[in-house]
Amino acid sequence: MMEPEEIARLKALMEWEGQRTAPPEGFPVLPDMPAGRYTSPEYFALEQQHVFRKSWLFAGHLDEIPEPGCYMRWHNAGDPIVIVHGMDGTVRAFHNTCRHRGAPVVTEDRGKSSRLMCGYHNWTYKTDGSLVGVPERRDFPADFDMSCRGLLPVRCELFGKIIYVNFDMEAMPLLDWLGPLAREWEEFAFDRIKLAARHSFDLQCNWKVAMEANMEVYHVPFIHPNTVAPLVDSSRNLNTIYPNGHARMLAPPPRTTDREHVRAIDSPPGWRQIETVGELGRTCTQSYTLFPNWVSPLSNYFVPPLVFWPTSLGTTRLELVTMALDWGDAPAPDLWTVPDASQPNGRQMSPIILEDTQFGEAIQQSMQGSAFRSVPLSYQEARIYSFHQSLDRMIGPENVPEHLRVEPVIGADWVWPNDPRASQMAREQGGEAAANREAAE
Ligand code: FES
Ligand SMILES: [Fe+2]
Repeated sequence: MMEPEEIARLKALMEWEGQRTAPPEGFPVLPDMPAGRYTSPEYFALEQQHVFRKSWLFAGHLDEIPEPGCYMRWHNAGDPIVIVHGMDGTVRAFHNTCRHRGAPVVTEDRGKSSRLMCGYHNWTYKTDGSLVGVPERRDFPADFDMSCRGLLPVRCELFGKIIYVNFDMEAMPLLDWLGPLAREWEEFAFDRIKLAARHSFDLQCNWKVAMEANMEVYHVPFIHPNTVAPLVDSSRNLNTIYPNGHARMLAPPPRTTDREHVRAIDSPPGWRQIETVGELGRTCTQSYTLFPNWVSPLSNYFVPPLVFWPTSLGTTRLELVTMALDWGDAPAPDLWTVPDASQPNGRQMSPIILEDTQFGEAIQQSMQGSAFRSVPLSYQEARIYSFHQSLDRMIGPENVPEHLRVEPVIGADWVWPNDPRASQMAREQGGEAAANREAAE
């Protein structure tokens, strides 16, 4: 939960952002980012190897495997895995690869069973991954050790009801990875929200092209004049960069917006509010980037992450998820998709998502052409730059060829809890107060 002083400080900073006439004092000049970060197979391979193998990744919601014995397949990040709600109540993840000759142990997307049995020769595993059954055991050597041939684990931890996985057995615990986000997210009831909708769509662009449309508000007045712009005053947007590559935007609605209009867009009548959400979540638009590939606005109605999965250098699978409190008999809320019988999955992306994704394919084609040299970013787009710094940090800057590297110019002094803007604001306001006192005397 946010303390009142913190809310007051963030509100003051949003006003200050609206009034500044230049980037904050001391904010680094962001060097152009190399074009090849979006087009080079070499950089793509580095992302796959280091970023998607070492980060905590959104895998699903506990509602998808609600009871002991329930399991689900998952293959959004390379190796096929299976996530299992164990008979002992613990949720675990394993490579879906039989330890005999590599057949998939689970072949349906979802299922329920107290044992997992490979269909090829019926090797059988408990829900904790241990191998407990091998037919024709007599034909294997007498000292064949079943205890070291259990399913190979993948790290799996929950934040509330949300399931995250990590292929790196040495990775820091999920809570450490989230850092300050874990506390800031308490009010959004991750432990009570239910899964309302989860659909995916294929996009014809690099995953970062698609994701970065959700990492700045610079585009809002131009791309979203009638949808997002009435809700977000982009001039008063406040970005915060957190450790481990995460970030947040926070912006109030424009002063001209009448609340009725806002309510009509973002508060569907009759849906249950998350009553613990504080003032900023109720009155502002905020959106968190969870490194590497989750972006979610959080409000008093929804936790609706957009998750970007690279499927190749130039293609992305976009998952559109809505989580909310119990909706009773009303239709399940779905913030990001609408019914469309002409689509293979019966859904189409909502107008806002169509606006955000409309240029992706053409951008990718043009990026692959010779006219695309480098990317200059403004202060308002600094979350994108910092995201790229974090990609290189995960990869190991020494592993990134020099012509593809970004210079780590955003230092720790601009990363939470540090914020030089607060002291600049205090100095300016101190100066103003002194000037007012002088004028009054
Ligand atoms: S491959 Fe699974 S039992 Fe043979
Ligand atoms: Fe957008």
